[in-house]
Amino acid sequence: MRMYDIIAKKRDGKELSKEEIEYFVDGYVKGNIPDYQVSSLLMAIYFKGMNPLETSNLTMSMAKSGEIIDLSSIPGIKVDKHSTGGVGDKTTLIISSMVASCGVPVAKMSGRSLGHTGGTIDKIESIPGISTTIDRDKFFDIVKEIGISIIGQSGNIVPADKKLYALRDVTATVESIPLIASSIMSKKIASGADCILLDVKAGSGAFMKNIDDALELAECMVSIGENVGRKTIALVTNMDKPLGNAIGNSLEIVEVCNVLKNNGPEDLTGICIDLAANMLYLANKGDLSVCYKLAKESLESGRAFSKFKEMIIAQGGDISVIENQNNFIKSNLREEVLSNKEGYIYSMDTEKCGIASMMLGAGRETKESTIDYNAGIVLNRKVGDYVKVGDKIATLYASTTDKISRGKDMLLDSINISKEKPNNMPIIYARVTNSCTEKY
Ligand code: URA
Repeated sequence: MRMYDIIAKKRDGKELSKEEIEYFVDGYVKGNIPDYQVSSLLMAIYFKGMNPLETSNLTMSMAKSGEIIDLSSIPGIKVDKHSTGGVGDKTTLIISSMVASCGVPVAKMSGRSLGHTGGTIDKIESIPGISTTIDRDKFFDIVKEIGISIIGQSGNIVPADKKLYALRDVTATVESIPLIASSIMSKKIASGADCILLDVKAGSGAFMKNIDDALELAECMVSIGENVGRKTIALVTNMDKPLGNAIGNSLEIVEVCNVLKNNGPEDLTGICIDLAANMLYLANKGDLSVCYKLAKESLESGRAFSKFKEMIIAQGGDISVIENQNNFIKSNLREEVLSNKEGYIYSMDTEKCGIASMMLGAGRETKESTIDYNAGIVLNRKVGDYVKVGDKIATLYASTTDKISRGKDMLLDSINISKEKPNNMPIIYARVTNSCTEKY
């Protein structure tokens, strides 16, 4: 087999065989195929696409390039969840506690923040003392004992994705649906769960800016999941405004606790119930209406909050900040952002809100940046609210005046105030299963 022929075949729009895909993934990971040939193939895939069979074969070749975690020693159906990334998206911590409190084991590996989107591991690490680098045996023991553990991603998972993503990043080939879908799904498959729930975000704060692209990605990933024997459902959800009111690590943990105490913002609580119900459905806990009931009860009864606290204790975290969130260390500086106009908050460029939070110190500009766990934004008003001049729109937290000033300018730039009232947008746009796509 020759890489030249594989490139030419895809350039001419033909289907690549499983063996050809394995040859290029394996050869690239081992260093036998140079970057310039793989770049060429990626560009051919970008223009000519891949059919569902090719995309599934690419996903499996990538998944097999590293360790595939075996969760079979943990009893029960293991359901993983993945969000394509958003601003203020703290749903993983909430729904994992909800479903674990309903008896579905959660053995979850999560990522860190990069750029304008947050990462679950950074949010958890804002809890003093907590460990997210637990060894495999202890991780499994915690899940077997209390039903939930969330740790950082293993370094050995899908090395092919690390190399391919870095190459895509510098060759203008990131925005290809089969390449994005295989990148995400290979990591989910290598993480070992039986079923996968995908939260595909659409909007100004998401990777996919419009609903049609997000739907196409969702359908592609659901078909991969089913082709490789993992029951998969995707919800396409709104990322045209931050989720909840808090953006930034410890600020988000406070909001996580409020939702788990059934006292959180409506939008965030609503999406968590949708996501948790679908995870419970994947875990065979009943039909969808039964699963909605279970999800709501887990919040109303306090069971989900108790489960969250059990996880914090098991991973060595300081439970006093969860029992009383005033115990979180406060930022040195706090600044209010006031409206300079009267009217409705018509829209918020959510990517800019995420960048504002990053500038305040809550996120990473590069993989090497350090983050300030206490920095970030609390939104006092959101899209659709009416404001007068001088009304408080947000409160900012940071460690230096320079950070406050950069974050404030960026946040103000993200907000569009208008005389016109914006339409009410749904939180969930669509639910995609292997058999159908329901649009809401
Ligand atoms: N997230 C991923 O993991 N991979 C992509 O290609 C895009 C987003």
